[in-house]
Amino acid sequence: MNAHRLVLKISKDEIQNRVRALAAQIASDYQGKDLVMVGVLKGAFIFLADLIRSLDMPVEVDFIRIASYGTSTESSGGITLSKDLECSIDGRDVLVVEDIVDTGLTMRWLMGHLQRRNPRTVKICALIDKYERRAVEMPVHYAGFRIPSGFVVGYGLDFAEKYRGLQGIYEVAFDAMVEGSHAG
Ligand code: XMP
Ligand code: MG
Repeated sequence: MNAHRLVLKISKDEIQNRVRALAAQIASDYQGKDLVMVGVLKGAFIFLADLIRSLDMPVEVDFIRIASYGTSTESSGGITLSKDLECSIDGRDVLVVEDIVDTGLTMRWLMGHLQRRNPRTVKICALIDKYERRAVEMPVHYAGFRIPSGFVVGYGLDFAEKYRGLQGIYEVAFDAMVEGSHAG
């Protein structure tokens, strides 16, 4: 792992306020609906846990696990499903809860996967809409925060499995490479 520092981007208080506002909006939009919230492991687990505790309506929770980044900060390009849904979403309203939408390729793949199970609606709630590198059109119906770029950690997000437990969101700043060294 290259030498790096963490720079605070979004404080614990800002996150908590934003999560409460998102939950209020979701509860109002889905009032009386049969809502299933599908958390995308692992990065969204803390966001989802906080969201449902602020949500003033009944909701079923399920998880899916997609591997697309490995342990690096760059996408490997391939998408694999390592854990599928366990509940039926046939005729139901699905809200995917994801940590970050970046290029949008992961969400495009997941939307296709979910649409084949005949849900009534599928929408996306992402903690962070990282919009600068978007490669495919992908609406984020509920976005916690919009940031253009940068690799961020904390509040469930990791860098090589570290930093998920941080209460704020931090940007990973890589120290300038010295001559003769190389990324690895
Ligand atoms: P795409 O490009 O398919 O990628 O939209 C989305 C997935 O990449 C991960 N990702 C990150 N993970 N910090 C992370 O910990 C980041 O800054 C970051 N950017 C993208 C993320 O898991 C998401 O599922
Ligand atoms: Mg990740």
